[in-house]
Amino acid sequence: MNNLKNLRGTIDLLPDQLIKWQNVEKILLEQLARASIKEIRTPILEMTELFIRGIGEGTDVVSKEMYTFLDRGERSCTLRPEGTASVARALIQNGLSSNLQKLWYMGPMFRYERPQAGRQRQFHQLGVEFIGYDSVRSDVEIIALAWDILGKLGIKELNLEINTLGDLNDRLNFQKSFLEWLEINKNSLDLDSQNRITKNPLRILDSKNIQTQKALENAPRLFNFLSEESHKRYSDLKKNLEVLKIPYVENFNLVRGLDYYTHTAFEITSGALGSQATVCGGGRYDDLIKQMGGPNTPAIGFAIGLERLILLAGKELEIPRNTDIYIINQGLIAESLAMDLSRKLRNYDLLVELDLSGASFSKQFKKANKLKSKSVIVIGDDEAVNGEFIIRLFDRSVNENEEEVISFGNDINLEKWINNNLLIKRCS
Ligand code: HAM
Repeated sequence: MNNLKNLRGTIDLLPDQLIKWQNVEKILLEQLARASIKEIRTPILEMTELFIRGIGEGTDVVSKEMYTFLDRGERSCTLRPEGTASVARALIQNGLSSNLQKLWYMGPMFRYERPQAGRQRQFHQLGVEFIGYDSVRSDVEIIALAWDILGKLGIKELNLEINTLGDLNDRLNFQKSFLEWLEINKNSLDLDSQNRITKNPLRILDSKNIQTQKALENAPRLFNFLSEESHKRYSDLKKNLEVLKIPYVENFNLVRGLDYYTHTAFEITSGALGSQATVCGGGRYDDLIKQMGGPNTPAIGFAIGLERLILLAGKELEIPRNTDIYIINQGLIAESLAMDLSRKLRNYDLLVELDLSGASFSKQFKKANKLKSKSVIVIGDDEAVNGEFIIRLFDRSVNENEEEVISFGNDINLEKWINNNLLIKRCS
Protein backbone atom coordinates (compact mmCIF):
# COMPACT_ATOMS: atom_id res chain seq x y z
CA MET A 1 0.00 0.00 0.00
CA ASN A 2 1.22 3.53 -0.75
CA ASN A 3 2.20 5.64 2.20
CA LEU A 4 -0.70 7.86 3.15
CA LYS A 5 0.09 11.56 3.01
CA ASN A 6 -1.76 14.79 3.56
CA LEU A 7 -3.20 16.57 0.52
CA ARG A 8 -1.04 19.10 -1.34
CA GLY A 9 -1.49 22.59 0.08
CA THR A 10 -2.53 21.35 3.52
CA ILE A 11 -0.22 21.00 6.52
CA ASP A 12 -0.12 19.31 9.89
CA LEU A 13 0.44 21.74 12.72
CA LEU A 14 2.59 19.85 15.21
CA PRO A 15 2.71 20.46 18.97
CA ASP A 16 5.94 22.51 18.88
CA GLN A 17 4.62 24.75 16.09
CA LEU A 18 1.30 25.19 17.85
CA ILE A 19 2.93 26.94 20.80
CA LYS A 20 3.40 29.99 18.57
CA TRP A 21 -0.11 29.64 17.09
CA GLN A 22 -1.64 29.50 20.55
CA ASN A 23 0.37 32.46 21.82
CA VAL A 24 -0.62 34.50 18.76
CA GLU A 25 -4.26 33.47 19.07
CA LYS A 26 -4.26 34.47 22.74
CA ILE A 27 -3.10 37.99 21.87
CA LEU A 28 -5.65 38.21 19.05
CA LEU A 29 -8.51 37.18 21.32
CA GLU A 30 -7.45 39.67 23.98
CA GLN A 31 -7.34 42.49 21.44
CA LEU A 32 -10.76 41.57 20.05
CA ALA A 33 -12.31 41.38 23.51
CA ARG A 34 -10.83 44.77 24.38
CA ALA A 35 -12.48 46.26 21.29
CA SER A 36 -15.80 44.71 22.36
CA ILE A 37 -16.08 42.48 19.32
CA LYS A 38 -18.13 39.28 19.65
CA GLU A 39 -17.43 35.90 18.13
CA ILE A 40 -19.57 34.20 15.49
CA ARG A 41 -19.07 30.64 14.24
CA THR A 42 -20.58 29.53 10.97
CA PRO A 43 -20.29 26.11 9.26
CA ILE A 44 -17.19 25.30 7.25
CA LEU A 45 -19.42 23.67 4.66
CA GLU A 46 -22.05 25.77 2.87
CA MET A 47 -24.28 25.61 -0.18
CA THR A 48 -22.19 26.44 -3.26
CA GLU A 49 -24.74 29.04 -4.31
CA LEU A 50 -23.86 31.17 -1.29
CA PHE A 51 -20.38 31.87 -2.60
CA ILE A 52 -21.46 32.23 -6.23
CA ARG A 53 -23.97 34.90 -5.22
CA GLY A 54 -21.89 36.41 -2.43
CA ILE A 55 -18.39 36.55 -3.88
CA GLY A 56 -19.27 36.73 -7.59
CA GLU A 57 -19.14 34.19 -10.41
CA GLY A 58 -16.40 36.00 -12.33
CA THR A 59 -13.91 36.03 -9.46
CA ASP A 60 -10.92 33.69 -9.40
CA VAL A 61 -12.04 32.38 -6.03
CA VAL A 62 -15.40 31.19 -7.37
CA SER A 63 -14.45 30.26 -10.93
CA LYS A 64 -11.17 28.44 -10.22
CA GLU A 65 -10.46 27.91 -6.56
CA MET A 66 -13.43 26.44 -4.76
CA TYR A 67 -13.56 22.96 -3.28
CA THR A 68 -17.00 22.04 -4.54
CA PHE A 69 -18.66 18.62 -4.54
CA LEU A 70 -22.04 16.93 -4.49
CA ASP A 71 -23.01 15.44 -1.14
CA ARG A 72 -24.89 12.16 -0.82
CA GLY A 73 -28.16 14.03 -1.27
CA GLU A 74 -26.87 15.47 -4.61
CA ARG A 75 -26.61 18.99 -3.14
CA SER A 76 -23.72 21.10 -4.36
CA CYS A 77 -21.61 21.97 -1.31
CA THR A 78 -18.45 24.06 -0.97
CA LEU A 79 -15.78 24.28 1.70
CA ARG A 80 -15.83 27.98 2.58
CA PRO A 81 -13.13 29.96 0.73
CA GLU A 82 -13.67 32.98 3.02
CA GLY A 83 -15.92 34.07 5.87
CA THR A 84 -17.77 37.25 4.87
CA ALA A 85 -20.48 35.62 2.73
CA SER A 86 -21.15 33.03 5.46
CA VAL A 87 -21.47 35.69 8.16
CA ALA A 88 -23.88 37.67 5.96
CA ARG A 89 -25.96 34.54 5.37
CA ALA A 90 -26.02 33.63 9.07
CA LEU A 91 -27.15 37.11 10.06
CA ILE A 92 -29.92 37.25 7.44
CA GLN A 93 -31.12 33.75 8.31
CA ASN A 94 -31.20 34.50 12.03
CA GLY A 95 -32.92 37.86 11.59
CA LEU A 96 -29.92 39.76 12.94
CA SER A 97 -28.75 41.63 9.89
CA SER A 98 -30.42 44.92 10.75
CA ASN A 99 -28.80 45.11 14.19
CA LEU A 100 -25.49 46.86 14.70
CA GLN A 101 -22.91 44.14 15.25
CA LYS A 102 -19.18 43.90 15.65
CA LEU A 103 -18.19 40.31 14.98
CA TRP A 104 -15.10 38.15 14.59
CA TYR A 105 -14.43 34.58 13.44
CA MET A 106 -11.38 32.44 13.14
CA GLY A 107 -10.88 29.15 11.35
CA PRO A 108 -9.86 27.23 8.25
CA MET A 109 -10.69 28.40 4.71
CA PHE A 110 -10.12 26.50 1.48
CA ARG A 111 -8.91 27.71 -1.91
CA TYR A 112 -7.49 25.55 -4.67
CA GLU A 113 -4.47 27.76 -5.36
CA ARG A 114 -0.89 26.91 -6.30
CA PRO A 115 0.78 26.29 -2.93
CA GLN A 116 3.92 28.24 -2.02
CA ALA A 117 5.37 29.88 1.11
CA GLY A 118 2.49 31.68 2.82
CA ARG A 119 -0.08 30.27 0.38
CA GLN A 120 -1.94 27.06 1.11
CA ARG A 121 -5.09 25.32 -0.01
CA GLN A 122 -6.28 24.99 3.54
CA PHE A 123 -5.33 28.16 5.40
CA HIS A 124 -6.69 30.06 8.38
CA GLN A 125 -8.17 33.50 8.71
CA LEU A 126 -9.12 35.81 11.51
CA GLY A 127 -12.00 37.86 10.15
CA VAL A 128 -13.72 40.91 11.63
CA GLU A 129 -17.02 42.28 10.31
CA PHE A 130 -18.81 45.45 11.42
CA ILE A 131 -22.44 45.03 10.35
CA GLY A 132 -24.88 47.94 10.01
CA TYR A 133 -22.14 50.57 10.28
CA ASP A 134 -22.21 53.26 7.65
CA SER A 135 -20.04 56.11 8.91
CA VAL A 136 -16.50 56.80 7.74
CA ARG A 137 -15.53 56.43 11.39
CA SER A 138 -16.37 52.72 11.18
CA ASP A 139 -14.01 52.39 8.18
CA VAL A 140 -11.34 54.09 10.25
CA GLU A 141 -11.98 51.90 13.28
CA ILE A 142 -11.75 48.75 11.16
CA ILE A 143 -8.46 49.83 9.60
CA ALA A 144 -7.06 50.98 12.95
CA LEU A 145 -8.06 47.69 14.53
CA ALA A 146 -6.25 45.65 11.89
CA TRP A 147 -3.24 47.96 12.12
CA ASP A 148 -3.14 47.74 15.92
CA ILE A 149 -3.55 43.95 16.01
CA LEU A 150 -0.53 43.60 13.73
CA GLY A 151 1.35 46.18 15.80
CA LYS A 152 0.50 44.39 19.06
CA LEU A 153 2.16 41.30 17.64
CA GLY A 154 5.28 43.33 17.00
CA ILE A 155 5.07 42.98 13.23
CA LYS A 156 7.36 45.34 11.41
CA GLU A 157 7.64 46.78 7.90
CA LEU A 158 3.89 47.14 7.53
CA ASN A 159 2.40 49.07 4.62
CA LEU A 160 -1.22 50.07 4.43
CA GLU A 161 -2.62 50.56 0.93
CA ILE A 162 -6.03 52.12 0.46
CA ASN A 163 -8.36 52.82 -2.43
CA THR A 164 -11.98 53.62 -3.04
CA LEU A 165 -14.19 51.64 -5.37
CA GLY A 166 -17.08 54.10 -5.13
CA ASP A 167 -20.65 52.86 -5.12
CA LEU A 168 -22.41 50.74 -7.73
CA ASN A 169 -23.33 53.75 -9.85
CA ASP A 170 -19.79 55.11 -9.87
CA ARG A 171 -18.52 51.73 -10.95
CA LEU A 172 -21.11 51.31 -13.72
CA ASN A 173 -20.16 54.70 -15.14
CA PHE A 174 -16.49 53.83 -15.00
CA GLN A 175 -17.01 50.35 -16.42
CA LYS A 176 -18.65 51.75 -19.57
CA SER A 177 -15.59 53.86 -20.46
CA PHE A 178 -13.16 51.26 -19.23
CA LEU A 179 -14.73 48.56 -21.43
CA GLU A 180 -14.48 50.84 -24.47
CA TRP A 181 -10.82 51.43 -23.68
CA LEU A 182 -10.20 47.71 -23.13
CA GLU A 183 -11.70 46.81 -26.52
CA ILE A 184 -9.39 49.27 -28.25
CA ASN A 185 -6.30 48.30 -26.23
CA LYS A 186 -6.96 44.59 -25.92
CA ASN A 187 -3.72 43.60 -27.66
CA SER A 188 -1.54 45.47 -25.19
CA LEU A 189 -2.83 43.31 -22.35
CA ASP A 190 -1.56 39.94 -21.13
CA LEU A 191 -3.68 36.88 -21.94
CA ASP A 192 -5.10 36.54 -18.46
CA SER A 193 -6.30 40.12 -18.52
CA GLN A 194 -7.79 39.70 -22.02
CA ASN A 195 -9.84 36.80 -20.67
CA ARG A 196 -11.06 38.97 -17.84
CA ILE A 197 -12.60 41.59 -20.16
CA THR A 198 -15.88 39.75 -20.34
CA LYS A 199 -15.74 38.04 -16.95
CA ASN A 200 -14.41 40.59 -14.45
CA PRO A 201 -12.92 43.69 -16.10
CA LEU A 202 -12.26 45.53 -12.83
CA ARG A 203 -9.78 42.85 -11.78
CA ILE A 204 -7.59 43.76 -14.76
CA LEU A 205 -6.57 46.83 -12.76
CA ASP A 206 -4.99 44.48 -10.23
CA SER A 207 -2.84 42.65 -12.83
CA LYS A 208 0.78 42.11 -11.81
CA ASN A 209 1.86 41.86 -15.48
CA ILE A 210 4.32 44.67 -16.24
CA GLN A 211 3.15 45.15 -19.84
CA THR A 212 -0.48 45.37 -18.72
CA GLN A 213 0.39 47.75 -15.90
CA LYS A 214 2.17 50.01 -18.38
CA ALA A 215 -0.80 50.00 -20.76
CA LEU A 216 -3.20 50.75 -17.88
CA GLU A 217 -1.40 54.01 -17.19
CA ASN A 218 -3.41 55.47 -20.08
CA ALA A 219 -6.73 53.85 -19.16
CA PRO A 220 -9.63 55.78 -17.62
CA ARG A 221 -9.42 55.96 -13.82
CA LEU A 222 -12.23 54.85 -11.54
CA PHE A 223 -11.32 57.74 -9.28
CA ASN A 224 -12.47 60.22 -11.94
CA PHE A 225 -15.93 58.64 -12.06
CA LEU A 226 -16.69 58.95 -8.36
CA SER A 227 -19.70 60.98 -7.28
CA GLU A 228 -19.12 63.98 -5.05
CA GLU A 229 -20.35 61.97 -2.07
CA SER A 230 -17.94 59.11 -2.75
CA HIS A 231 -15.09 61.59 -3.11
CA LYS A 232 -15.94 63.16 0.22
CA ARG A 233 -16.11 59.79 1.91
CA TYR A 234 -12.67 58.89 0.65
CA SER A 235 -11.09 62.18 1.60
CA ASP A 236 -12.67 61.97 5.09
CA LEU A 237 -11.16 58.51 5.45
CA LYS A 238 -7.71 59.83 4.59
CA LYS A 239 -8.09 62.77 6.97
CA ASN A 240 -9.08 60.47 9.82
CA LEU A 241 -6.17 58.12 9.20
CA GLU A 242 -3.85 61.11 9.29
CA VAL A 243 -5.33 62.23 12.62
CA LEU A 244 -4.64 58.76 14.03
CA LYS A 245 -1.14 58.85 12.51
CA ILE A 246 -1.72 55.64 10.60
CA PRO A 247 0.48 55.93 7.51
CA TYR A 248 -1.09 54.89 4.21
CA VAL A 249 -0.30 54.74 0.53
CA GLU A 250 -2.97 55.24 -2.10
CA ASN A 251 -3.14 52.52 -4.71
CA PHE A 252 -5.73 53.28 -7.40
CA ASN A 253 -5.34 49.78 -8.81
CA LEU A 254 -6.29 48.04 -5.57
CA VAL A 255 -9.61 46.38 -6.40
CA ARG A 256 -9.43 43.19 -4.25
CA GLY A 257 -10.34 39.73 -5.49
CA LEU A 258 -13.96 39.53 -4.36
CA ASP A 259 -16.87 41.26 -6.07
CA TYR A 260 -18.75 42.57 -3.04
CA TYR A 261 -16.63 45.62 -2.25
CA THR A 262 -17.89 49.22 -2.37
CA HIS A 263 -16.08 52.43 -1.38
CA THR A 264 -13.14 51.65 0.95
CA ALA A 265 -10.79 48.82 -0.01
CA PHE A 266 -7.52 48.21 1.80
CA GLU A 267 -4.65 45.80 2.18
CA ILE A 268 -1.81 45.58 4.64
CA THR A 269 1.39 44.05 3.36
CA SER A 270 4.69 43.37 5.08
CA GLY A 271 8.10 43.78 3.50
CA ALA A 272 9.24 40.90 5.70
CA LEU A 273 7.07 38.42 3.73
CA GLY A 274 8.06 37.08 0.32
CA SER A 275 5.87 37.33 -2.75
CA GLN A 276 2.72 36.55 -0.74
CA ALA A 277 3.08 39.80 1.15
CA THR A 278 -0.55 40.61 1.93
CA VAL A 279 -1.24 39.75 5.51
CA CYS A 280 -4.60 41.52 5.75
CA GLY A 281 -7.26 42.50 3.24
CA GLY A 282 -10.63 44.12 3.66
CA GLY A 283 -13.11 46.75 2.72
CA ARG A 284 -16.67 47.97 2.73
CA TYR A 285 -19.46 45.86 1.28
CA ASP A 286 -22.64 47.92 1.52
CA ASP A 287 -24.65 45.95 -1.06
CA LEU A 288 -23.84 42.36 -0.09
CA ILE A 289 -26.48 41.72 2.55
CA LYS A 290 -29.25 43.21 0.41
CA GLN A 291 -28.03 41.34 -2.63
CA MET A 292 -28.22 38.11 -0.65
CA GLY A 293 -31.86 38.72 0.24
CA GLY A 294 -31.48 40.68 3.50
CA PRO A 295 -32.35 44.27 4.34
CA ASN A 296 -30.24 47.15 3.09
CA THR A 297 -27.32 46.93 5.53
CA PRO A 298 -23.98 48.69 5.18
CA ALA A 299 -20.96 46.76 6.44
CA ILE A 300 -17.19 46.70 6.48
CA GLY A 301 -14.58 44.16 7.53
CA PHE A 302 -11.21 42.55 7.02
CA ALA A 303 -9.47 39.20 7.27
CA ILE A 304 -5.93 38.43 8.36
CA GLY A 305 -4.20 35.31 7.02
CA LEU A 306 -2.97 33.46 10.09
CA GLU A 307 -0.20 31.49 8.33
CA ARG A 308 1.32 34.78 7.18
CA LEU A 309 0.83 36.29 10.60
CA ILE A 310 2.67 33.37 12.22
CA LEU A 311 5.54 33.77 9.73
CA LEU A 312 5.80 37.43 10.75
CA ALA A 313 5.33 37.13 14.51
CA GLY A 314 8.45 37.22 16.70
CA LYS A 315 10.43 34.27 18.02
CA GLU A 316 9.54 35.13 21.61
CA LEU A 317 6.07 33.74 20.87
CA GLU A 318 7.59 30.31 20.23
CA ILE A 319 8.47 29.88 23.89
CA PRO A 320 6.15 27.50 25.76
CA ARG A 321 4.93 28.09 29.28
CA ASN A 322 7.18 26.18 31.67
CA THR A 323 5.88 23.39 33.81
CA ASP A 324 5.33 24.66 37.36
CA ILE A 325 5.45 21.31 39.09
CA TYR A 326 6.69 17.99 37.80
CA ILE A 327 5.61 15.04 39.92
CA ILE A 328 8.21 12.30 40.09
CA ASN A 329 6.82 9.12 41.50
CA GLN A 330 7.59 5.47 41.82
CA GLY A 331 6.07 2.60 43.76
CA LEU A 332 2.48 1.45 44.12
CA ILE A 333 1.30 3.65 46.99
CA ALA A 334 3.32 6.59 45.71
CA GLU A 335 1.79 6.37 42.24
CA SER A 336 -1.77 6.58 43.45
CA LEU A 337 -0.89 9.38 45.83
CA ALA A 338 0.85 11.24 43.01
CA MET A 339 -2.21 10.86 40.82
CA ASP A 340 -4.42 12.27 43.57
CA LEU A 341 -2.02 15.14 44.17
CA SER A 342 -1.79 16.08 40.48
CA ARG A 343 -5.59 16.30 40.21
CA LYS A 344 -5.74 18.57 43.24
CA LEU A 345 -2.91 20.79 42.09
CA ARG A 346 -4.58 21.34 38.72
CA ASN A 347 -7.41 23.15 40.49
CA TYR A 348 -4.98 26.01 40.91
CA ASP A 349 -3.43 27.96 38.07
CA LEU A 350 -0.46 25.64 37.94
CA LEU A 351 0.93 23.68 35.05
CA VAL A 352 1.39 20.24 36.53
CA GLU A 353 2.90 17.23 34.82
CA LEU A 354 2.55 13.80 36.34
CA ASP A 355 5.26 11.40 35.22
CA LEU A 356 3.58 8.19 34.09
CA SER A 357 6.69 6.52 32.73
CA GLY A 358 7.48 4.26 35.69
CA ALA A 359 11.15 4.95 34.88
CA SER A 360 13.91 5.38 37.46
CA PHE A 361 13.97 8.49 39.64
CA SER A 362 17.03 9.80 37.81
CA LYS A 363 15.33 9.49 34.42
CA GLN A 364 12.26 11.26 35.75
CA PHE A 365 14.47 14.02 37.14
CA LYS A 366 16.10 14.43 33.75
CA LYS A 367 12.70 14.86 32.11
CA ALA A 368 11.70 17.48 34.71
CA ASN A 369 14.91 19.31 34.00
CA LYS A 370 14.38 19.20 30.28
CA LEU A 371 10.94 20.75 30.71
CA LYS A 372 12.54 23.49 32.87
CA SER A 373 10.03 22.67 35.57
CA LYS A 374 10.09 25.28 38.33
CA SER A 375 9.79 22.65 41.03
CA VAL A 376 9.48 18.92 41.40
CA ILE A 377 7.61 16.88 43.89
CA VAL A 378 9.18 13.53 44.59
CA ILE A 379 7.11 10.74 46.02
CA GLY A 380 8.54 7.31 46.56
CA ASP A 381 6.84 4.60 48.62
CA ASP A 382 8.94 5.53 51.66
CA GLU A 383 7.61 9.07 51.56
CA ALA A 384 4.08 7.94 50.87
CA VAL A 385 4.10 5.60 53.86
CA ASN A 386 5.49 8.34 56.08
CA GLY A 387 2.87 10.79 54.84
CA GLU A 388 5.24 13.31 53.30
CA PHE A 389 6.47 14.71 49.99
CA ILE A 390 9.82 15.92 49.04
CA ILE A 391 9.59 19.17 47.20
CA ARG A 392 12.62 20.22 45.31
CA LEU A 393 12.62 23.80 44.17
CA PHE A 394 14.88 24.48 41.24
CA ASP A 395 16.43 27.85 41.65
CA ARG A 396 18.08 28.31 38.33
CA SER A 397 19.41 31.77 38.99
CA VAL A 398 21.90 30.46 41.56
CA ASN A 399 22.00 27.03 40.00
CA GLU A 400 21.44 25.37 43.33
CA ASN A 401 18.66 23.00 44.20
CA GLU A 402 16.76 23.47 47.36
CA GLU A 403 14.89 20.66 48.96
CA GLU A 404 12.19 20.54 51.56
CA VAL A 405 10.25 17.69 53.06
CA ILE A 406 6.62 18.42 53.66
CA SER A 407 4.52 16.29 55.94
CA PHE A 408 0.85 16.20 55.23
CA GLY A 409 -0.38 13.44 57.49
CA ASN A 410 -3.78 12.26 56.33
CA ASP A 411 -4.79 15.61 55.01
CA ILE A 412 -3.22 17.07 51.90
CA ASN A 413 -3.76 20.71 52.67
CA LEU A 414 -2.76 22.28 49.40
CA GLU A 415 -4.43 25.56 50.16
CA LYS A 416 -1.80 26.30 52.79
CA TRP A 417 1.07 25.60 50.40
CA ILE A 418 -0.36 27.48 47.52
CA ASN A 419 -1.28 30.51 49.63
CA ASN A 420 2.21 30.63 51.05
CA ASN A 421 3.63 30.11 47.59
CA LEU A 422 5.57 27.25 49.01
CA LEU A 423 5.46 25.25 45.83
CA ILE A 424 6.97 27.57 43.33
CA LYS A 425 7.80 30.85 45.03
CA ARG A 426 11.51 30.53 45.51
CA CYS A 427 12.24 29.40 42.01
CA SER A 428 10.45 32.12 40.09
P1 HAM B 1 -8.85 37.96 1.03
O1 HAM B 1 -8.01 39.11 0.62
O2 HAM B 1 -9.30 37.03 -0.02
O3 HAM B 1 -10.13 38.60 1.76
O4 HAM B 1 -8.13 37.16 2.17
C1 HAM B 1 -7.67 37.81 3.34
C2 HAM B 1 -6.30 37.29 3.74
O5 HAM B 1 -6.32 35.86 3.84
C3 HAM B 1 -5.21 37.55 2.72
O6 HAM B 1 -4.70 38.86 2.85
C4 HAM B 1 -4.17 36.51 3.10
O7 HAM B 1 -3.41 36.97 4.20
C5 HAM B 1 -5.04 35.35 3.55
N1 HAM B 1 -5.12 34.33 2.46
C6 HAM B 1 -5.94 34.34 1.39
N2 HAM B 1 -5.74 33.24 0.63
C7 HAM B 1 -4.76 32.53 1.23
C8 HAM B 1 -4.08 31.29 0.95
N3 HAM B 1 -4.40 30.55 -0.12
N4 HAM B 1 -3.11 30.87 1.80
C9 HAM B 1 -2.79 31.61 2.91
N5 HAM B 1 -3.40 32.78 3.22
C10 HAM B 1 -4.36 33.24 2.41
C11 HAM B 1 -11.16 37.88 2.28
O8 HAM B 1 -11.15 36.69 2.42
C12 HAM B 1 -12.31 38.75 2.74
N6 HAM B 1 -13.37 37.86 3.27
C13 HAM B 1 -11.85 39.75 3.77
C14 HAM B 1 -12.96 40.63 4.23
C15 HAM B 1 -13.66 40.52 5.36
N7 HAM B 1 -13.45 41.66 3.57
C16 HAM B 1 -14.46 42.20 4.27
N8 HAM B 1 -14.60 41.48 5.35
